[in-house]
Amino acid sequence: MALADEAKRVAAQFDFTDAELNAHVQEFLKQMGEGLEKDGTSMSQIPTYVTGVPNGTEKGLYLAVDLGGTNFRVCSVTLNGDTTFNLTYNKVAIPKELMVTDKASKLFAFLALQIENFLKEHHAEHFESHRRRRATISTASGYKEDEVFHLGFTFSFPVQQRAINKGNLMRWTKGFDIDDAVGKDVCALLQTEIDKLKLPVKVAALVNDTVGTLMARSYTSTGANRSTLGAIFGTGTNGAYIEKTSNIKKKIEGEYDESTGEMVINTEWGSFDNQLNVLPTTPWDKKLDTQSVNPGFQMFEKRISGMFLGEITRLAILDMMQSKDSTLFSDDNSSHNDWTTTTTVAGQSGLYKQWGLDTAIMSVAAADNTPELSSLRQELEKDLNIYTPSLEDAHAFKIVADAVARRAARLSAVAIGAIAIQSGLLKDPEAEVIDIGVDGSLVEHYPFFRDMIYEALRAIDEIGIQGVNKIRIGVAKDGSGVGAALIALVAAKMDKSDDVPLATEVKRELDSIPAETGLSNMAMTVGGLVGVAAVAALWWSRQR
Ligand code: BGC
Repeated sequence: MALADEAKRVAAQFDFTDAELNAHVQEFLKQMGEGLEKDGTSMSQIPTYVTGVPNGTEKGLYLAVDLGGTNFRVCSVTLNGDTTFNLTYNKVAIPKELMVTDKASKLFAFLALQIENFLKEHHAEHFESHRRRRATISTASGYKEDEVFHLGFTFSFPVQQRAINKGNLMRWTKGFDIDDAVGKDVCALLQTEIDKLKLPVKVAALVNDTVGTLMARSYTSTGANRSTLGAIFGTGTNGAYIEKTSNIKKKIEGEYDESTGEMVINTEWGSFDNQLNVLPTTPWDKKLDTQSVNPGFQMFEKRISGMFLGEITRLAILDMMQSKDSTLFSDDNSSHNDWTTTTTVAGQSGLYKQWGLDTAIMSVAAADNTPELSSLRQELEKDLNIYTPSLEDAHAFKIVADAVARRAARLSAVAIGAIAIQSGLLKDPEAEVIDIGVDGSLVEHYPFFRDMIYEALRAIDEIGIQGVNKIRIGVAKDGSGVGAALIALVAAKMDKSDDVPLATEVKRELDSIPAETGLSNMAMTVGGLVGVAAVAALWWSRQR
């Protein structure tokens, strides 16, 4: 079989028809409903205890930390209460040996140490004066409450929340595996390590990254057009949306503000359809799952998010290479190869290693529409040690990688579409816009990911062309504005007429922070961190 035909045969296994799309939406709505009724369902539908956004009267110095799939970020936000603020942040990669280990304390001690380093580096004066004072104080805690930093903790894993600052880890995702932590309160785990270092820090709010995104995004779409969903399509995938408390049939433990009649729900949609009632499953999906640290879990995430798409592609490509009639990356193609040298795949190529194919190369494949596919061929050589691949090789690779990503985008539309339907806003003539805030490497860096989502949304029966025109998906590009607006909301009691200049002013502040990896990326990160700082501030102000 010609190489292109062989690639098309593999790619066809990732087709996801409009009929399947619609069936998935119905199943998603069903599983959302189940999760609102009882615990232990596939989608956890976790009440977050976040019932509104901060009111802008909060003041003070807040810390925010973010444990995502790859990095740990520490940030401090000074909310001045007069529309101004100061913001600083550090980022470190989480060492692989702490992601999979025996004791939770090893990971959390590392996190506490980063907080200490951050305080020493950026708040040395405050830190040292507290340390001196502590030595002379005889109370158990050693600090007066108003000397303590209140910390918002963005923890991007499934947590059964029990209060705004308490939550037990349900399970790890995204390659983390520390059995000892499962079932424990992650705020307490962090607090214990913070206390061991005698830091003047109190964990005040626990927030999932999707909730932070929703909080940050909400500000720019206030009133009738406020944001409905915050979603992440990055290393992992998940969404948090605003639900009527009357629809939450399961018991919400503890206290929360009932006055708004709403609560943000962390869906944990990465686990949608773990039972595989509807999800499409190729032999490569099966293999990926079996070889993962959590077989049978996060089945939706394993077909969508950045951590897994490269691996699915690798497994499919490897099978093609190893099938006996295939000419993929073999010298047979060299006769067509304009580089006139021999195609070879080095023994140490990532193609032969689990997780060896970075999803980023799929973005290069999607972006390269030149007749020679030269960027992709260079990348295959640089990243995967496939030397002098032919045009046909690169073309075959592109066909398969594009198909894997396209299925992921269409599955993403299932979640977004279902939540748009659940919100009731599609049928509400008053609602002009259904605003959705998204963040993560796929929506930021994968070409046309958002376009593919829109195309699929249009094909959902209950949405159609009319519905899709109402749906506004805002990507990280707006992140600085979003974060800025939220800070503005938190930092100042605002006069409505001041909204625009204030947000612009704060945006300018955020934009001036030097970016390590590109401004838009960094800015949204900051937006999320500010989101959690704001929740901490809100919580603390209500305690007083
Ligand atoms: C986690 C979620 C998180 C998402 C995006 C998933 O693996 O279960 O809690 O929101 O990744 O970071």
